[in-house]
Amino acid sequence: MSNSSLPSAQYLKDYQAPVFGVDTIELTVFLDDHKTKVISKVRYLKQLEGEQVLRLNGEQQTLLEVKLAGVTLNAEQYQLTDEELVITTHLSEFELEITTEIDPANNSSLEGLYKSGGAFCTQCEAQGFRKITYYLDRPDVLAKYTTHIIGNKSIYPHMLSNGNKIEEVALDDGLTKVTWQDPYPKPSYLFALVAGDFDVLEDNFTTASGRKVDLALFVDKGNLSRAPFAMESLKKSMAWDESRFGLEYDLDIYMIVAVDFFNMGAMENKGLNVFNSKCVLADSKSATDADYLMIESIVGHEYFHNWTGNRITCRDWFQLSLKEGLTVFRDQEFSMDLGSRAHNRIEQVKVMRSHQFAEDAGPMSHPIRPESVIEMNNFYTVTVYDKGAEVIRMLHSILGEQGFQAGMKLYVERHDGHAVTCDDFVAAMQDANTEHDLTLFKLWYSQSGTPNVNANMHYDKANKKLTIKLSQVTAPTADQVDKKALHIPVNTAFFDQSGQPMNLGGQYQHVLNLTANEQTFEFESVEEQPLVSFLRDFSAPVQFSFDYSDEELTKLIIAETSDYTRWELAQQLYIKHIKLAVSNNDYVFPTAILTCIEQVIGKDSADPQITAELLKVPGFSTLLAEYKHADVDAILAAQDKFTRFLANGLANKLTKVIAENAPSEYIFNATAMAKRAFRNAALNLLSYSDDKQVADLISNQYYHSDNMTDSLAALKAGSTKDDSLFKTLMADFENKWTGDPLVMDKWLALCASHEHQDVLANILELESHRDFTLDNPNRVRALYGNFAMNNPAQFHRKDGAGYRFLTDKLIQLNEINPQVAARLITPLIQVGNLDGARKLVVKKELTRLNNTPNLSKDLFEKVTKCLETTLAG
Ligand code: TRP
Ligand code: ZN
Repeated sequence: MSNSSLPSAQYLKDYQAPVFGVDTIELTVFLDDHKTKVISKVRYLKQLEGEQVLRLNGEQQTLLEVKLAGVTLNAEQYQLTDEELVITTHLSEFELEITTEIDPANNSSLEGLYKSGGAFCTQCEAQGFRKITYYLDRPDVLAKYTTHIIGNKSIYPHMLSNGNKIEEVALDDGLTKVTWQDPYPKPSYLFALVAGDFDVLEDNFTTASGRKVDLALFVDKGNLSRAPFAMESLKKSMAWDESRFGLEYDLDIYMIVAVDFFNMGAMENKGLNVFNSKCVLADSKSATDADYLMIESIVGHEYFHNWTGNRITCRDWFQLSLKEGLTVFRDQEFSMDLGSRAHNRIEQVKVMRSHQFAEDAGPMSHPIRPESVIEMNNFYTVTVYDKGAEVIRMLHSILGEQGFQAGMKLYVERHDGHAVTCDDFVAAMQDANTEHDLTLFKLWYSQSGTPNVNANMHYDKANKKLTIKLSQVTAPTADQVDKKALHIPVNTAFFDQSGQPMNLGGQYQHVLNLTANEQTFEFESVEEQPLVSFLRDFSAPVQFSFDYSDEELTKLIIAETSDYTRWELAQQLYIKHIKLAVSNNDYVFPTAILTCIEQVIGKDSADPQITAELLKVPGFSTLLAEYKHADVDAILAAQDKFTRFLANGLANKLTKVIAENAPSEYIFNATAMAKRAFRNAALNLLSYSDDKQVADLISNQYYHSDNMTDSLAALKAGSTKDDSLFKTLMADFENKWTGDPLVMDKWLALCASHEHQDVLANILELESHRDFTLDNPNRVRALYGNFAMNNPAQFHRKDGAGYRFLTDKLIQLNEINPQVAARLITPLIQVGNLDGARKLVVKKELTRLNNTPNLSKDLFEKVTKCLETTLAG
């Protein structure tokens, strides 16, 4: 064997349509823990001129037999490598029958066919089908699937695949054969197979056109009581897609299976979604309000993929945002229509600011439609998903709901049943909205990086003229040097000095469309110098700066009519003063901040869910993003000092909020949730104060709580307030919940994010805790993920122990589950703005990781990019 060659990149520009297409595929799967036999019979059709060579993808399986048009081939008649089976044939229409053997019980990558707990299950997106059989494993090859599953019915009472169950027969040997057929042609990544012993929650839904659809939710035995909420969410999703998008479900059955071992949140396999159990199971004792909201949105997300992803799919994986950006936009709108629009917007923007901006500033920067990829699994990113959704959201705001829906209608009419590109999507939007010109807008698909938009304002009192100058700059990113001006819609509102909306040309809200590097916007007959609020509702995914005085900011916070924007302005106020404290140890925070926030809290009309958000200080990653060269210790110190300033300054108000929002019996609805959010935000902030009562409030809340939201909030506050109190409460919680993995993940997360010198030692000890295991991604993320992402003080320790620890874990996980390892590495590669000493330690650790034998493509791509860009030189 030669020295193993380094993994290489694939490029969007090299796309070529497949020479062979597939008509039908018939799979027969003989279930067995270590020797699952798979027979695939595929009808290939030559559809383009070109070589007579069929190159099938296939990995990590044993090839037993190849039959071409009924004749078994010998080893000279095909070529077999680690990644391909290549067959040369003069035939242009033929059946190929391939028999392979795989080992699901030893498949810890959770990709392809694997065992999760006692059940068989598959994960094929993006390129996992090639671990099941040799095939054209690419999204532009669509085929009709028939799947036979053969297994022992007493061990696997439920044997499931996509589409409709058409046959079940008992075989002579005591085994059972179940056959499924999916009438809709689909790419291989949407294939799914599940076999196991489950409890089933059944229901049904009647579509707008009157068809009855059976719904089934499969959960581990004993978990039925945690299933109803997801089922309700599914029915709401189906109704919502009909009413808002005019899209109906298309099969007679819709199944969701919850599994404990899963790399991501959930997967939209046609008619047979597979979910991480964390994203399905909930009851009031064990799930938080945030969990309920997350479940609702993910159930919606996977359901909405049935049209945006499955019926209309991606031509190639560079187009991933075609389905993901659009489907995230759809699930966001679903949550916003069902719940609080402003609260949802705040959560969406937090993700952009704390994760997506950092990704764009780091070594993995890529446009929402990437141009080159080494490992596709590395591109299921906040950029493709969340920035992708922001791009769709801008389109929606440019075209309006009607224009957008007209574009969607045309998109579905044109492309149903096909594999298409992002350009096809924009073309449909354009052709349905000819009064708009989206030419410049399309740059959002190919340009990476976060634009910096700056505003300057001049008020000419004598001529009553207001001039606003906007300018944009996108700094070079790791992947792309030259940047052009984008189309950036800047939603703007004007208020007078008394805080009343101020009409200019008949309205106080205006969209300033910035389409060049610099642009001037003029307003006449402006009676007084206005207060101006920019980028309202985060109208574009950019960093916006305008040099507000404290007085302007505090006035605007009170004046704003947009709840989201009020929060945004308060964040700006906080960030401004934290930064002043970073650069000046003796900085004294102005009391005007307290007066302003007190006033908002006191407002009768204020939404408590939003006010709760005002009580939260910007997180470390948001603050870090403010700097090119960050002083980590100074940032953490300033953040802490500011939090204590707010806490002490508002202590009386906070105590009052806690008292006035005392808990009542748990119920999950918007009002009750907002009330809990308000009280718990107040409790959390108060835990940073010198108030003598807090410890009692915390332990009182913990011991009297009837729900997970309040219990966890008490624990979190306890972890800030007092180590011994925290220990006592955590021991009680552990005792109560040990053996319940989803709840113990919350406990592990709290342990890992506890800001304490000994946290690393504690984590090492927890590795042998009965509720921890390294091969379950949920456990790994709870313990290591929370340490690396939610414990900045300990992760960024000066002595490098945090970086070294994470690297050790990545080296272990590289062997077990490369996808999980590659997600966990994020905080170790987004280090461009750390100080030189810390960067040096990171570089040493990443070099060590890079030298690991058998380094996966997933980690290789990220580590080398970081060493070559951020840490070069
Ligand atoms: N398509 C899935 C979603 O967004 C994402 C997903 C689930 C996935 N599992 C995966 C992506 C495994 C890559 C690998 O809903
Ligand atoms: Zn998705």
